[in-house]
Amino acid sequence: MSARLIDGKAIAADIRADLREQVQRLPVQPGLATVLVGTRPDSVTYVNMKHRACAEVGVRSVRVELPESVSEAELVGRVRELNTDPQVHGILVQLPLPPHIDEERVLAQVSLEKDVDGFHPVNIGRLAMKNRDPLFVPCTPLGCIELLRHSGTAIAGRQAVVLGRSNIVGLPVALLLLRENATVTVCHSRTRDIAAVVRQADILVAAIGKPEYVQADWLRPGVTVIDVGINQKPDASSARGYRLVGDVDFDACRRVAGQITPVPGGTGPMTIAMLLRNTVRAAQRQVQ
Ligand code: GUN
Repeated sequence: MSARLIDGKAIAADIRADLREQVQRLPVQPGLATVLVGTRPDSVTYVNMKHRACAEVGVRSVRVELPESVSEAELVGRVRELNTDPQVHGILVQLPLPPHIDEERVLAQVSLEKDVDGFHPVNIGRLAMKNRDPLFVPCTPLGCIELLRHSGTAIAGRQAVVLGRSNIVGLPVALLLLRENATVTVCHSRTRDIAAVVRQADILVAAIGKPEYVQADWLRPGVTVIDVGINQKPDASSARGYRLVGDVDFDACRRVAGQITPVPGGTGPMTIAMLLRNTVRAAQRQVQ
C-alpha cells in the first residue's frame, strides 16, 4: 500500500486564487512589509518567495533590508515606522536575527494588529491559553492544520506527536493541535525512545530539522504525516549538487503511512499561503 499524497502545492494555489478575489473586493490594497537583516541565503530565498506570492494575489509588498551589523535600536525604529504606515497592514521580521539582537524585544515591537507572523509574545501567549484567541497564528503551524483539514484527517481525540519544540513551528503547532482537541506529545532532543513515542501517533508532525530522520518502522500503519523539514542532501546527479529532503524518510515512510506530505510541495507553499491570508485579514480588520 502507498500513502495518499497531501498536495500542499495544489491546496495553496486554491487558497491564493480565493485570496486574489478577496483582495479585489477590498476598498484598500493590502500591504505586507518584510524586514530582512543580513544576507543569509535561506532567509533571502524565503523573503523573495513571499514577495512573489504577494504580487500574484495583488498584495502590495515593501522590502526593508538592513545590514547584519544593524543595531537593535535602529531595527526597532524601522519596525515602529512600519507600525504607523497606513499602507502597511502586515509586518514580517524574517528570523533568525543576528545574535547581537534580542529577537523577543524586536518581535514585541510589532503592532499586534499587524503581527501577521503571529510571533508577538501576546499572540503566542493567547495561543497558549484556553478561551483566548490570538489575532494571528504563526503561518507554518497554521498551514499544517490546514493540510490536515484538507486531507480529511480527524484531529479531535486522536494522538498527535510533534517532533521539535521550536518557537516557530514545534511549540505553536503543538498548541494548535491541542486547541483542536488532539492528545499531544512533543518530542525533543532529550526524549527517550522517540521511535516508541512516534509509534503511538495517528498524526505526526516532523519539525526537527534532521534530514530523513523518521524511519518507516517507527510509524503506525495509516498515520497521517506532515513533514515540515526542508533539508539539503548532497546529490551529485542534481545540477545544484543537492536535493531537498524533509525530516521523514519519504520513500520508505510512504509505504506505511495513510497520508503524507511531500518535500518540496507540502508545508512550504502552505506557509506562504497562510502569510497572505493573515495579511488580507489584517487589511480587512484595519479598514473596518
Ligand atoms: N524563519 C523561518 N521560518 C520563518 C517564518 O515562518 N517567519 C519568519 N518571520 N521567519 C522565519
